[in-house]
Amino acid sequence: MRFMSGVVVAVGLLGCGGPEAEQAPFETVGHTDQEIVGGIEARPNSHPWIVSLQQYGSHFCGGSLVRVGDKEESDIVITAAHCVYDGLANATAVAGAHDLYNPTSTQVTARVTKAVYHPQYNPDTTLNDIAVLKLDKPIKFDTTVARACGQSSGMRPNLAPALAGGNTRVPVCLPSSGARVADNTMATVAGWGLTREGGYDTSSILLQVGVPVLRHQDVANSYRSQGINIDENAMLGAGYKQGGKDSCQGDSGGPLVVQRPQGYVLQGIVSFGVGCARAGLPGIYTRVSNYIPWINTQIRTLSAVR
Ligand code: ARG
Repeated sequence: MRFMSGVVVAVGLLGCGGPEAEQAPFETVGHTDQEIVGGIEARPNSHPWIVSLQQYGSHFCGGSLVRVGDKEESDIVITAAHCVYDGLANATAVAGAHDLYNPTSTQVTARVTKAVYHPQYNPDTTLNDIAVLKLDKPIKFDTTVARACGQSSGMRPNLAPALAGGNTRVPVCLPSSGARVADNTMATVAGWGLTREGGYDTSSILLQVGVPVLRHQDVANSYRSQGINIDENAMLGAGYKQGGKDSCQGDSGGPLVVQRPQGYVLQGIVSFGVGCARAGLPGIYTRVSNYIPWINTQIRTLSAVR
């Protein structure tokens, strides 16, 4: 896993392995230190667009498979710029995975051959934290619905994790350009990242947690006290005022999705936070709808799938 460099990380790392007192806010909200932070095990294959980005067999970031035109396969993954900013020697993307320690036959691994991060990505402010990756071979979707996106066979909490089944490799839907996700919309973030702030181990099992999208002004106000500027067009905050549920280190680059009639839509990319699951400091996500023209251009330029 990689951590961000620069100003934001300096703050973010404060909590990692810091004094006990720092952990008090989420201990008091019933944090159990077993999951994403405050999350649950995902139902296997219920996030069929998620990929685990790995280097030398170890997971460092998440990503999402997206559609190329109307082809039923894709060699394009969307992730966070800070995941690939330092280069990606020998990086691979694993699709169709659930338990990284117990690979199944549905899993497909491809090499990442190219990464293009946003030209205005700023590692100090984390502005424009988005990148598009090209894989060495297209990953075949197994959705049975032509041109579909965001089809999940059913996410928890409605279905038990043991009830695996359904498609394992499906592209996520992209939002329409500039479309704003309404305040308080429930979203789901998934990943193999840390299960508590300051922990050492990422989860081998895919975890997920539900978090509402917060009002920009509230997010901006709470981060201002940390000396961090939240750009309304480029970022969105999601979480609970009281903390307790959040993405964390290692979840970066992974999907924050909102359910819509056509399927799950990628509204956010896990970007940063101050600590994890702290009260008043929600997770910050790259606002995907701000980058649709740029994403489409990268897909056209990078993909070998025609
Ligand atoms: N930057 C982190 C990573 O590289 C993601 C942190 C997300 N933090 C949060 N509190 N939501 O994995």
